Amino acid sequence: MDFRHQITTPGALSGATVDALVLLVVGEVLDPSLDPALSGPLADAIEHGDLKLKKGKGLYLHRPNGVRAARVAVAIAEDSSPKSLKAAAAQAIGLVKGSGARHVGIAVVGTATLGATEAEALVACAGDAVYTYRHTKPSAPPAPALKVFTVFCSKADAKAVQQGVRQGQAIAAGVALAREYANRPANHCTPSVLAAQAKKLGKDFDLKVEVLDRKAVEKIGMGSFLAVAQGSDEPLRFIVARYDGAPKSQAPVVLVGKGITFDTGGISIKPASDMDEMKFDMGGAASVLGTLRAIAELKPTLNLVCLIPACENMPSGRAVKPGDVVTSLSGQTIEILNTDAEGRLILCDALTYAERFKPAVVVDIATLTGACVIALGHHHSGLFTPDDRVAQQMLDASRAALDPCWRMPLDEEYDEALKSNFADMGNVGGRAGGAITAAMFLRRFTAKFPWAHLDIAGTAWRSGAAKGSTGRPVGLLTHFVLAQAG
Ligand code: BES
Ligand code: MN
Ligand code: ZN
Repeated sequence: MDFRHQITTPGALSGATVDALVLLVVGEVLDPSLDPALSGPLADAIEHGDLKLKKGKGLYLHRPNGVRAARVAVAIAEDSSPKSLKAAAAQAIGLVKGSGARHVGIAVVGTATLGATEAEALVACAGDAVYTYRHTKPSAPPAPALKVFTVFCSKADAKAVQQGVRQGQAIAAGVALAREYANRPANHCTPSVLAAQAKKLGKDFDLKVEVLDRKAVEKIGMGSFLAVAQGSDEPLRFIVARYDGAPKSQAPVVLVGKGITFDTGGISIKPASDMDEMKFDMGGAASVLGTLRAIAELKPTLNLVCLIPACENMPSGRAVKPGDVVTSLSGQTIEILNTDAEGRLILCDALTYAERFKPAVVVDIATLTGACVIALGHHHSGLFTPDDRVAQQMLDASRAALDPCWRMPLDEEYDEALKSNFADMGNVGGRAGGAITAAMFLRRFTAKFPWAHLDIAGTAWRSGAAKGSTGRPVGLLTHFVLAQAG
């Protein structure tokens, strides 16, 4: 989609040459500077009880008199915060996205200024609305006709809005990429397919992409990653993708994404119900690829390295067994007490691999624990880091991107649960504080760099009727990485 911005006044909106005009109305009274052709029908609707200036209310007008756009969708925003505007935009865009409108223009009326954050949120919203999954469902309803999305703003706001639109567009494309690959089922999105997609990104954006196969991973000594992959006939891949936007001397940001393309649990097999959703267990990897795409498009002055260990977790005659002890790349031994705690086993070797880049900071992203879903539900991703500075940067990025995360504890006391009589550590620490003990396990592999871990088990996808990937946390990660440049 093509995202633009255009300078205009509330008084000129009725003359805007768009197929659909989306108005987000903020405040308890209608903006007096709004064109009478628009404020007239709105005031009439209010008078007749068809519209209330209250959050969640909306209205669709078809060919209102004196308005150039054939369609007008109105939604009421509770206030002028980016979050409220985004919610209203989602509602109003929903009213016109099924129409034939190719060019949608959006304007916020009744608020003083529109900044970069607001513009970015509106663009992200439009991007989310037009994404349609068709890879294995070509019969899906046709994707919305929407091809051009314009944000209207005042001259004073134009510069900030333009910047927000540009950033929003890059993030929207990254989110769409992440959603697409996470949505594809495990027989269509294998580790090799993920690697091919990374290669394609490399070609399109001039990035260095290297893909390691089992032999290479054996040679390096990733015993923990190999143990997870050994139960599957589907070959593993270890993806290393780099965006070099700064001199080599500058320490890179490293992102590590969990790429389990299907998680059966292995020998510690999962129950049948909802197991299909374990195709989303590569949501971390998908979000890393999406972020890489956004960064490659925005071209900030920094270096970014993306690491994706990708494999299936399957039971078989060759599968790793509970009680097996493996040697990780770090040299530390691990007693695999539960083969379903496989995410940490592939991530720990990727984290050790990250050391060779002498990173400024490492963030891993993983659909790691059901316990995180119990703790935080589906709104906040879990943020784990012993580093207060990194925590603040992640929380700031999260707020700016409207992609919420919540900091969780990582005190030494939780490490106790990982003790093993047969190895340096076990791979599980019991049910209590399961998201935290998983993070404590990873922490044992991060002594050499500042580090944060995002548990996105509750936020990477939706279940039920709206089942599908959310593309989170591409927004958060993109903001975090961009902030490392400035
Ligand atoms: N991929 C799952 C985590 C998961 C489960 C995410 C359900 C979203 C919904 C992970 O590999 C896993 O199976 N974790 C186990 C860990 C346990 C064995 C310590 C879990 O959460 O049950
Ligand atoms: Mn598992
Ligand atoms: Zn898993």
